[in-house]
Amino acid sequence: MSSPDEPAVFLDATLRPATWDEYVGQEVIKNNLHILIAAAKERASPPEHILFYGPPGLGKTTLAHLIARELGGTLRSTSGPAIERVGDLAALLTNMGPGDILFIDEIHRLSRSIEEVLYPAMESGVLNIIIGKGPSARTIELPLPPFTLIAATTRVADLSAPLRSRFSGGTFRLEFYSEADIAQIVKRSAKILGVEVDKEGITEIAKRSRATPRTANYLLKRARDYAQLKRAPLSAELVNESLGMLEVDELGLTPLDRKLLTVLIDRFNGGPAGVNALAAALAEEPTTVSEVHEPFLLQLGLIERTQRGRVATKKAYEHLGKTPPSDLNERLL
Ligand SMILES: Nc1ncnc2c1ncn2[C@@H]1O[C@H](COP(=O)(O)OP(=O)(O)OP(=O)(O)O)[C@@H](O)[C@H]1O
Ligand SMILES: [Mg+2]
Repeated sequence: MSSPDEPAVFLDATLRPATWDEYVGQEVIKNNLHILIAAAKERASPPEHILFYGPPGLGKTTLAHLIARELGGTLRSTSGPAIERVGDLAALLTNMGPGDILFIDEIHRLSRSIEEVLYPAMESGVLNIIIGKGPSARTIELPLPPFTLIAATTRVADLSAPLRSRFSGGTFRLEFYSEADIAQIVKRSAKILGVEVDKEGITEIAKRSRATPRTANYLLKRARDYAQLKRAPLSAELVNESLGMLEVDELGLTPLDRKLLTVLIDRFNGGPAGVNALAAALAEEPTTVSEVHEPFLLQLGLIERTQRGRVATKKAYEHLGKTPPSDLNERLL
């Protein structure tokens, strides 16, 4: 079952932008990509390897699709954990056609042994395959067709330095979206889904979307269901009612976001608290806390990251209707 904390992924496909014009925001990244792609096209060679990173649902996979489409090639998608053996990677790389893109999602989960085969493939376009074992083992170099690797991750810090340095086409960090950009995305999605929604309704959804397109589409769908059963067009009032039932508050916080803040304030006395201790107190995976919840709470200024751990800010206390402690400023140091 889906919840506000786990937006359904299946709807991504139908609402995914198919052209650059439909891809709202991230202007700096788009401009850089246009130059990279145009120059590569002029040289009739594939663009250099690209890395996208940032919180879930901000449009990394969508960018990979747009690039492949522009190059007229196929996007061959895989993910870090799916490449278990060197043979898996070899099969992928040797089957690439001209203009094809290899997309590796969750690249931070590649094993070290696969990474070591990937380096020369990225850098020199060769695959080093070891044949035999022991003293008689030898390496053969297999030339590869020219290719572009696009990789995505929510945890760029987990990538080894040698791997990171091989994305010579650029490493791009996706930013959270402005409310106006999210409103534009909601408007487009509503049109595709055939949902009647007024301007205030769109604004209301945009406000609660965690500055994230995937969440915006998810909330639009849930509000649409609600309005459909009420036999009424989607107004701001109905959006409020339906998102209230989902327990998404006016800042876009989900129950788990609020629980995280509550635990930080009540059990850890406002912090500093380490991410593992927080996750344990919430009975959640540390990665869920650090990749999904923290980035947005940091973005809103509800928590701060200090050397000693996470600290709740004045805004967090106020949002939960609590009184901030008098020594709050010292904790934020
Ligand atoms: N800039 C954008 N403009 C319009 N819609 C967008 C944009 N970015 C993302 N979306 C919508 O949000 C959905 C999620 O985007 P996408 O799958 O590319 O995110 P992601 O960064 O790859 O997330 P994850 O880290 O979970 O893989 C897309 O299917 C699309 O509908
Ligand atoms: Mg993705």
